[in-house]
Amino acid sequence: MAIRLGDIAPDFSATTTQGPIRFHEWIGDSWCVLFSHPKDFTPVCTTELGETARLKPEFDKRNVKIVGLSVDPADSHSKWAEDIKETQGHALNFPVIADADRKVSDLYGMIHPNANDTLTVRSVFIIDPKKKVRLMLTYPASTGRNFDEILRVIDLLQLTDKHSVATPVNWKQGGDVIIVPSLSDEDAKKKFPGGWKALKPYLRVVPQPK
Ligand code: BEZ
Repeated sequence: MAIRLGDIAPDFSATTTQGPIRFHEWIGDSWCVLFSHPKDFTPVCTTELGETARLKPEFDKRNVKIVGLSVDPADSHSKWAEDIKETQGHALNFPVIADADRKVSDLYGMIHPNANDTLTVRSVFIIDPKKKVRLMLTYPASTGRNFDEILRVIDLLQLTDKHSVATPVNWKQGGDVIIVPSLSDEDAKKKFPGGWKALKPYLRVVPQPK
């Protein structure tokens, strides 16, 4: 069955470029970004993995583990890693799952047969420390993803988990946020003693909580 937001991310064991993992155990108390790419030794994927390696300190800062995946075997990932380092200037510093038997790809619905029946699409799953799926993205093979957007979503998920807020369109770190409709004005006064701007009774804007 298709994975949906709020589901527990399916657990699995897999071979990666950093050795075998059991997924849930490997995530531990961290957040996780699991992302697939169509194929090793392809141009867009090379730029994506180089960029993810460059951003690894940003993921670390947010307590997020990253793990890539394609249906290529581990020795192919390792050979390709040399090209990523050479052309992108950043060596792979996170594990990449070797899913030659498509076990994980099938579990997560990463192969979309009407797009391509053998290769994974560009899927992204953000998983929280309780192993719940919090975001899913699917991009076509031709389109490199924006990993700044993935970091932005992690920031807002971590923010909205901590405070009773949601983020408006195009929110960026430091921007105003919205008090969730489920919080009454009476309870909002306790949480936001500095007050808020009510554009409508349901649209209450406050500075981003610290
Ligand atoms: C790429 O990464 O460049 C790519 C992979 C599969 C199909 C098309 C492009």
